[in-house]
Amino acid sequence: MAEKQFTRREIENNQDKDNNLFIIHDKVYNVHAFLNEHPGGEEVLIEQKGRDASDNFDDVGHSQDALELMKKYQVGVLVESEKTNKQPKKGWVSGYNAKKTESDVKGTGLPLYLLLGGIAIVVALLIFKS
Ligand code: HEM
Repeated sequence: MAEKQFTRREIENNQDKDNNLFIIHDKVYNVHAFLNEHPGGEEVLIEQKGRDASDNFDDVGHSQDALELMKKYQVGVLVESEKTNKQPKKGWVSGYNAKKTESDVKGTGLPLYLLLGGIAIVVALLIFKS
C-alpha cells in the first residue's frame, strides 16, 4: 500500500488531542501514543508539534534503538515536492552511536581498559611522587 502523503501545511493544521504530528527527515510521525513513554520527556515532543524536527532529533544523537522504535510511529511521508532530501546529520545513523561498542564507558566513547589503564598510571605517579 502506498504511504500516506502529507503537505507541511496539513501537518501544521492537523493537530488535536489524538494527533501530535511532526516531520523527521521527510517522514511524518504521530507520537501521540508515545508522549508518556519518551525517555527525553513529553515536552520536547510537544514543542515539535507541526514542525520539522529533523535537526533537533539529530542533535540529540538518538540511538539505534530509538531509530527502530520510531518506525512504529510513522504515519506517512511528505509529498515529493516538499521533501528536503537532506541526509541525516553525521552521527545520526553511522556515527557516534553506531560506532560505540558494548565495552565503551557510557558517554565517553572510551574502551574500559583505556580508562582503567589511565587511572592506574595516575595513581602510580602519585604514589611515586610522595
Ligand atoms: C518518533 C520520534 C522519537 C523517538 C522514537 C525517540 C526515542 C527516544 C529514545 C528511545 C530515547 C532514549 C535515548 C536513546 O535511545 O537514544 C530518547 C531520548 C531523547 N530524545 Fe527522543 N525520540 C523521538 C523524537 C525526539 C525529538 C523530536 C526530540 C527533540 C526535539 C527528542 C529529544 C530527546 C531528548 C532530549 C532525549 C534525552 C537524551 C538524553 O537524556 O541524553 N526526541 N528519545
